[in-house]
Amino acid sequence: MANPTQKHCPHSLLIPIIICSLLNSFTAESATYNVVNLGAKSNGQTDSTNAFLSVWSKACASTTPALIHVPQGRFMIGSGATFRGPCANKAISIKIDGTLAAPSDYHVIGNTGNWLHFDHVTGVSISGGVLDGQGSALWGCKNSAKSTCPTGATTLTFSNSQNIVINGLTSINSQMFHIVFNGCKNVKAQGVTVVADGNSPNTDGIHVQMSSHVTILNSKIRTGDDCISIGPGTTNLWIENVACGPGHGISIGSLGKNLNEAGVQNVTVKTVTFTGTQNGVRIKSWGKPSNGFVRNVLFQNAIMVYVQNPVVIDQNYCPGNKNCPGQASGVKISGVTYQDIHGTSATKVALKFDCSSRYPCRGITLKDVKLTYQNQAAQASCNNAGGAALGSVQPESCF
Ligand SMILES: *[C@@H]1O[C@H](CO)[C@@H](O)[C@H](O)[C@H]1NC(C)=O
Repeated sequence: MANPTQKHCPHSLLIPIIICSLLNSFTAESATYNVVNLGAKSNGQTDSTNAFLSVWSKACASTTPALIHVPQGRFMIGSGATFRGPCANKAISIKIDGTLAAPSDYHVIGNTGNWLHFDHVTGVSISGGVLDGQGSALWGCKNSAKSTCPTGATTLTFSNSQNIVINGLTSINSQMFHIVFNGCKNVKAQGVTVVADGNSPNTDGIHVQMSSHVTILNSKIRTGDDCISIGPGTTNLWIENVACGPGHGISIGSLGKNLNEAGVQNVTVKTVTFTGTQNGVRIKSWGKPSNGFVRNVLFQNAIMVYVQNPVVIDQNYCPGNKNCPGQASGVKISGVTYQDIHGTSATKVALKFDCSSRYPCRGITLKDVKLTYQNQAAQASCNNAGGAALGSVQPESCF
């Protein structure tokens, strides 16, 4: 049940009213909704989707800040839930002490695409909690190459939303991507933990696309696909203090799949550690025509621990050699800086710039890089790449 805590302002004097309403806004005059009071069951078996949706509709309609509380216990959200806006409320906090779990039978979610989905919301924050996508049976199906596997669902999606905060959330065993921001503005995700098997297909940790001013801080991501993937239309993205591995590393792309595509601009990736990952920092585009671009990217202060491709630009992505053989990528890459990149490569070529023959990479800067392979100097390889090496750069640059 709704349990609104109201404070009252005196109605006699103007000044006390102003002070009082200021105080009220600081003490967050808010209504608290406990999902259990609306019928959610913490037994991990009963489908609590309807209770969560009815709590959402109350919080969304409320004009005072709302707190949705998910107490300890395991709450099953069956086939998925969409928490839709726009809401009257621009301040909805969701505090999770327990776990939200998907059904163990992946046919229930099937091809739904999204499991927990917030759409067209403003001012939503989620703190704490565990989201359990129960993906392992679906990965098994996909890894056995059965043609009958459903695609599954992303665990947590925010689309067309703004002013989103995620704090201290854990996402485990997602069926597909763990967390997605698509079409969002002003997002802060911090203290996020992602855990999935190193062999789990398509389980990207955090995916950002068509979004601006997204900040990802202080997070640990162990998964089977990209640690963080950055799709078309991402601008002003800041990533700092993230540990990746296992997984495929931090990737801008794949870009340039479509002819008309929004570019990626102003991305900072700072203080990241990659442990045993397939890639460290990667930019990847399809080898076919596109008007996409990547501009103004800084990769700074990265530690590579036995990474297969620590630094890589690959503009010749053409899976299965279908629809693109012999074509050059149209994605224009310029202004990419790699600064203070240290550690070990698991392969001989630690720096690989394989750029488009049609639009060579321009303005690549290497500054203070030291990557070794089996305690010896690693190698660099360049195709259609131009730039500069500053400070001490090992392996020797190939520009
Ligand atoms: C680049 O993005 C950061 C946020 O990540 C922002 O603070 C900065 O102003 C942006 N720079 C430009 C030139 O837009």
